[in-house]
Amino acid sequence: MPVTSVVGLQWGDEAKGKIVDILTDHHDIVVRYQGGNNAGHTVVFGGVKYKLSLLPTGILRPGKVGVIAAGVVINPKGLLDEMDRLRSQGIPIAENLLISDRAHVIFPYHMAEEAVMEQARKGEAIGTTMRGIGTCYRDKIGRSHAIRMGDLYHSASYRKKVSEITATKNTILKALSPEFQPLDANAIADDYAKLAEQLAPHVVDTTRYLHQSLAAGKSVLFEGAQGSLLDIDHGSFPYVTSSNSSACGIHSGSGVPERRIEKMIGVAKAYTTRVGGGPFPTELDNEIGQHIRDVGHEYGTVTGRPRRCGWLDAVATRYGATVSGVDTLAVMLLDVLSQLDEVKICEAYELNGERSMHFPSHVEDLAQVQPVYRTLPGWKKDITQIRKVTDLPKEARAYLDAVAELVGTPVSIVSVGPDREQTMM
Ligand code: IMP
Repeated sequence: MPVTSVVGLQWGDEAKGKIVDILTDHHDIVVRYQGGNNAGHTVVFGGVKYKLSLLPTGILRPGKVGVIAAGVVINPKGLLDEMDRLRSQGIPIAENLLISDRAHVIFPYHMAEEAVMEQARKGEAIGTTMRGIGTCYRDKIGRSHAIRMGDLYHSASYRKKVSEITATKNTILKALSPEFQPLDANAIADDYAKLAEQLAPHVVDTTRYLHQSLAAGKSVLFEGAQGSLLDIDHGSFPYVTSSNSSACGIHSGSGVPERRIEKMIGVAKAYTTRVGGGPFPTELDNEIGQHIRDVGHEYGTVTGRPRRCGWLDAVATRYGATVSGVDTLAVMLLDVLSQLDEVKICEAYELNGERSMHFPSHVEDLAQVQPVYRTLPGWKKDITQIRKVTDLPKEARAYLDAVAELVGTPVSIVSVGPDREQTMM
């Protein structure tokens, strides 16, 4: 498996971390290419739970290199805390972690701005993770208020930049929120200089590193964060994250052309979840939704928020699979549906009396669609000990066949529990 990508096809939290962790064994380098510490996943191995947010999953395995590429936004304090936490669990982090000098840096004013803006949206809040992700990406696009990792090591211009940007941000924030206490530019510059010093051994030109590694025949695994439906350009805008969280982000975020990727694995849950605001056509605001939430432990890794739960939306997932261009599908958490009498898959939408297989581009249309369901019998059996797809109850296999048909992608991986062994490849 020389170059592979793993990408979420829904609204994030598809349990991609588990697939990435398994595939890491077959790759030399694992790359995070977008998002920031808004992402979160838990990997369990050897009976120990590891929580990751910004670090690539590959860092957990000896001999693998983890790369945080140019398209990621970095909270240096958050990253160092995460590194310390993993080190205290016995994970060595040294030259096996590389951080792009092109990656943009999240500063305290990014968090402050986000808090003010989310409050101002009131009932229409995006429901962000409040980690300053969107405001940092906004400054990246705006350029004049942006600071990249590499800038932290050019001390004279860096201090000038922090001072000018903080002054502007203080003016804006005071105007938007009169009770806002101005931030101290010198204190920020000092803090970040210290954090930069600790990160310095890891900061390199990762684009060059990745190309050199590929030329030397190394194998690379691209690890997507969030999911295709949260993609800034192709997702359910504006209820999305601020990066290209579909496979579209691989090229721009890492500098490695997509045509180098030989296998694109799309990851979807056997049902759907979403955190934060925005339309969710198959949402189950009832006891079945609560059952899925309880059995699937559907609470956010980063914010602890209860996730909204619903049936598998094959229209949305197929759209995610199309935009990301996946060859094959991993269906996760199938065991969560095991106790239900019947299971449903949304096979089409109805909008203004018309049936459609298309995911609407406008959020108001998405809010209005009515799901058209295919109902299948449940399997009503514990499947967590099953290790071969052919040993699954016939109803569960029929469900997987329907998923493959409706999402338009063959299923090659099925997961029936959190453990590595509970994965059928
Ligand atoms: P932001 O990424 O913090 O700007 O949040 C924007 C939207 O993306 C919100 O609905 C978040 O809940 C959602 N989001 C961000 N990261 C994740 C994730 O890792 N999993 C699921 N949803 C996420």
